[in-house]
Amino acid sequence: MALHVTKETGILVRTLIAGGAQVSITGCNPLSTQDDVAAALAKEGVHVWAYKGETRDDYYRYIKNVISLKPHITIDDGCDLVSEIHKDHKELIPEIICGCEETTTGIIRLKAMEKDNALHYPMIAVNDNKTKHLVDNYYGTGQSTMDGILRATNILFPGKTFVIAGYGSCGKGVALKAKGLGANIIICEVDYFRALQASYDGYRVMPMEKAAELGDIFCTVTGNKHVIRLEHMKKMKNGSIMANSGHFDIEIDIKSLESSSSSSRRVRPFMDEYVLDGKKLFILGEGRLVNLAAAEGHPSEVMSTSFCGQALACEYGAKNKGKMPNSVINLPEEIDRLIAEIQLTAMSISIDKLTQEQIEYLNSWHEGT
Ligand SMILES: NC(=O)c1ccc[n+]([C@@H]2O[C@H](COP(=O)([O-])OP(=O)(O)OC[C@H]3O[C@@H](n4cnc5c(N)ncnc54)[C@H](O)[C@@H]3O)[C@@H](O)[C@H]2O)c1
Repeated sequence: MALHVTKETGILVRTLIAGGAQVSITGCNPLSTQDDVAAALAKEGVHVWAYKGETRDDYYRYIKNVISLKPHITIDDGCDLVSEIHKDHKELIPEIICGCEETTTGIIRLKAMEKDNALHYPMIAVNDNKTKHLVDNYYGTGQSTMDGILRATNILFPGKTFVIAGYGSCGKGVALKAKGLGANIIICEVDYFRALQASYDGYRVMPMEKAAELGDIFCTVTGNKHVIRLEHMKKMKNGSIMANSGHFDIEIDIKSLESSSSSSRRVRPFMDEYVLDGKKLFILGEGRLVNLAAAEGHPSEVMSTSFCGQALACEYGAKNKGKMPNSVINLPEEIDRLIAEIQLTAMSISIDKLTQEQIEYLNSWHEGT
């Protein structure tokens, strides 16, 4: 697996081992590993390659180390593992039963592979479970992104203008939490419906070109590239802070900022200052997932539903070996329902059950006005 090596992932590793698997793990982002967790897993005899602050060379060397276990099932967060196997280790594909993908960016890449007829084993879109993207992306990213920004900066939110690019599952969560902390929210979108939703949710909606002049804090969560560009940074106010909570570190064009700045320096552990046209602009966590770089990622309760999905996806894949197409597939609805039920039970919450009369009513078309 290539997942953020956090304490929650550690529990998933233990769960899969308890289920009979041999596990080999590396990180899926150079800044997200919790070194104590990696050390604890190594002590338990797990093959683990990860440390916080990995170089690019180490990142890809470690992925190759994981692949050398000759996996039957892969678990990815962002599709780097699957992509490496398809590029450089094709000989292993016949033995691979399936893969499981954790995040939206990974699903986008997998669908692109599928479209190009370049996907050669079945991939289960765990991200698309309701108990994943409507929980982890929304509540998890919402809360932990605030945690990352606050730990990195210790700024006061009330009265600040907070610009969010992307109003998907993650962006909606980030907006809600930032609003709760007292910020004025601006949403930037490229999708008309999402922009409409943002407006109806009570936020100002405008292009980044305009928002750049108004914002105090900027956060990208789009899964896209160069959403904040130099042309935007040039319009920003002195002291503006930029963070990213999307999967890759390409949402903010930091390279152009670096090459156009007269100076740069680290002012706090996860806060870099750049001087652009005499203005100070700040980048948090080197533009990598701010919630994992500057904080601890999502709270465990959120990851319990996400990783319950991963564990059950592995089981589903193993039980359906050879029966799944080489495409991006969803887990059956009943597994998603089971995860929600397990979580509610753990929270001591029970819900209503449909009566026989209601089941019959919902399945019939005869009864009308
Ligand atoms: N930080 C975390 O822990 C965490 C957790 C889950 C997902 N993610 C990542 O966050 C990103 C977003 O995930 P999601 O589930 O919200 O995706 P999503 O597809 O639901 O939403 C993304 C939104 O961004 C918009 N968008 C795309 N390009 C844009 C642009 N140039 N300007 C403005 N808006 C743009 C899209 O229209 C869409 O509404 C992905 O990279 C995903 O992998 C991060």
